[in-house]
Amino acid sequence: PSNGSGQVCWEAPSNIALVKYWGKREPQIPLNPSVSFTLDTCRTKTSLSYSPRNNASAWFEVYLDGERKPGFEPKITKFFERISAYCPFLWDYHWRIETSNSFPHSSGIASSASGMAALAMALVEVEQQLSGVKFDEIQMKTKASFLARLGSGSACRSIDGGLVVWGVHDEVDGSNDLFGVRLNDSFAPIFKTYHDTIMLVHQGQKVVSSTVGHGLMHGHPYAEQRFERARANLSSLLAVLRSGDLDEFIRIVEAEALDLHAMMLTSDPNFILMKPGTLQILEAVREYRKSSGNHLCFTLDAGANAHLLYPDNEAIEVLEFIKNKLAHYCENGAYICDQVGSGVKKC
Ligand code: PMV
Repeated sequence: PSNGSGQVCWEAPSNIALVKYWGKREPQIPLNPSVSFTLDTCRTKTSLSYSPRNNASAWFEVYLDGERKPGFEPKITKFFERISAYCPFLWDYHWRIETSNSFPHSSGIASSASGMAALAMALVEVEQQLSGVKFDEIQMKTKASFLARLGSGSACRSIDGGLVVWGVHDEVDGSNDLFGVRLNDSFAPIFKTYHDTIMLVHQGQKVVSSTVGHGLMHGHPYAEQRFERARANLSSLLAVLRSGDLDEFIRIVEAEALDLHAMMLTSDPNFILMKPGTLQILEAVREYRKSSGNHLCFTLDAGANAHLLYPDNEAIEVLEFIKNKLAHYCENGAYICDQVGSGVKKC
């Protein structure tokens, strides 16, 4: 291996789950399979510089928008320790991680998926540089997805573009619990250009961290039913993704969002993550769907922000509705227009 120093830079997008991952066991193994749209506009860019480590210096430093962030160090330390068995070179170098997000900091959009995915791609490229072994694109993405999963589970779905499945499901070839796999292009073209407008109802820290949230599924009274429903919803959704049946898509996607929140409403301790503005948006989306015939639907993450999904051919009308009727439920009227994207990029 080379003893040199170097620098690499990768960009990775966020993703939004259609069938949700909620509940895991060690080492970051999901208790049900999930599927997500890879996003495009919401991205993290990470530059990773390395040089031989001398014992006096810190193992790594993290910067966000040029500012040193000691607050991020425990999460990165844990990540590095977890992946060191798969990246033994990590111990021998000093790392400088410089990262920036395309979306506003503390907007309530988790940067952990895009952040861990970008860092994982950067590490796989460094591994190639140090070992002199050339990986092909699939090998590189597979390893990066595997590493990203150990940082933040859903991050393994942010490497590839389009629709990505994580977790064993007998109808998805190659699906497994260790990394995300891209659904092949046999799904209906309408989903390749789908939009996701993220309504920033509540910007700021999450009420429940996802680590605590996943933990709540252990001993949860509805855990087994939930995991079973997720598997069934994924089966139904796979058929819909091929057929392009939007009414059925909406039924499944909204049910999944509400299931996720239902799990938090019925855990011990329990959490109400929606804000009044969230509920008002969900209600208005359903009314609009009835009155307009357009295929606007919602999904939710583990927070108050609503993700509004709709096909490209309805985008002009839907955006007008969002701007005129929904934006005022958002903090400072803020929302982010995103769409399905193509995954990681070198920068
Ligand atoms: O990747 P984590 O551990 O932050 O979990 C995220 C889980 C959800 O975003 C709520 C759902 C999902 O599948 O992305």
